[in-house]
Amino acid sequence: MNLYTLKALSKNYGEGDSLVRALRDVYLEIPHGRFAVVLGASGSGKSTLLNMLGCMDRPTAGQILFGDADITAYSKREMTQFRKTTIGFVFQSYNLLPDLNALENVEFSTEMVGLSPADAERALVQVGLSDRIKHFPGQLSGGEQQRVSIARAIAKQPKVLLCDEPTGALDFETGIMVLEVLKQIHREQGTSILFITHSQEIAKIADIVIRLRSGEIMSVTENERPLEPREVEW
Ligand SMILES: Nc1ncnc2c1ncn2[C@@H]1O[C@H](COP(=O)(O)OP(=O)(O)O)[C@@H](O)[C@H]1O
Ligand SMILES: [Mg+2]
Repeated sequence: MNLYTLKALSKNYGEGDSLVRALRDVYLEIPHGRFAVVLGASGSGKSTLLNMLGCMDRPTAGQILFGDADITAYSKREMTQFRKTTIGFVFQSYNLLPDLNALENVEFSTEMVGLSPADAERALVQVGLSDRIKHFPGQLSGGEQQRVSIARAIAKQPKVLLCDEPTGALDFETGIMVLEVLKQIHREQGTSILFITHSQEIAKIADIVIRLRSGEIMSVTENERPLEPREVEW
C-alpha cells in the first residue's frame, strides 16, 4: 500500500476573473519510506499540494488516500487529529515561540500528543542540539532554530515529515546541515519525507523527484544514486 495515493486532485483559489487553478487533476502515488522531493518553480502549486497532504486545507475536487484512509473525507476534528498525531511539519520560517527555550518549544508540541519531556530531549539530541537545549530562539542561529523546529516535528515520531522549503532562508553551509539532519532521520527512523524545493540541485538528494509545473505533474523519476547533502552544489 502507498503512503499517499492522489486521484484527480484539484485545488482552485478564488473565483471568476481571479480564479487560480493551483492543482489540476493530479494523479500521484507516493510509496512508504521514501525521501521524495517535489520540485517546481515558484507558483507551480508545491505548497498547495503539501497543504492538502497535511490536511491543512481541503481540495476543490478529487481524493487523497493516506494508506487506505480517505483523508479528504475527514471532518474538521479528524483533520486536526491527523495533523497532530501523524504529520510533522517543517516550514521555511521556524515558528518558534520566542519566550520558550529550545526544549520547551519541543515539549510544547509533545505535550499535546501525550509524550514525555524525555521524548522532546531525545529529538533535540537527534538534531545535534544537545548542548543548546536551554537556549532561547534569539540566542540560536537560523540553522539551529530550524533544527529546533525539526526536533519539534519529529519528537512525536510522525509517519511523514512534510517540509516546505526548510532551507529557503538559510545560507549554503547551514542549509547543508539541515539537509543532513533530515537525511539522517530518514535513514535511522525510516520516516517518509516529502521535501519541497525549487532547487534542481537539492532535488538530487531525493530518491524520488516529483516535478510540478502550473499545477500539473510533469514527471516522477527515481534517482538511481541520491547524492549526500555534502555532494550538492548550491
Ligand atoms: N490562499 C491563496 N489564495 C489565492 N491564490 C493562492 C493562494 N495560495 C496560493 N495561491 C496561488 O496558487 C498558485 C500556487 O501557489 P503555491 O502552491 O503557493 O505555489 P508554490 O509553493 O509552488 O510557490 C499560485 O498562483 C498562487 O498565487
Ligand atoms: Mg510555496
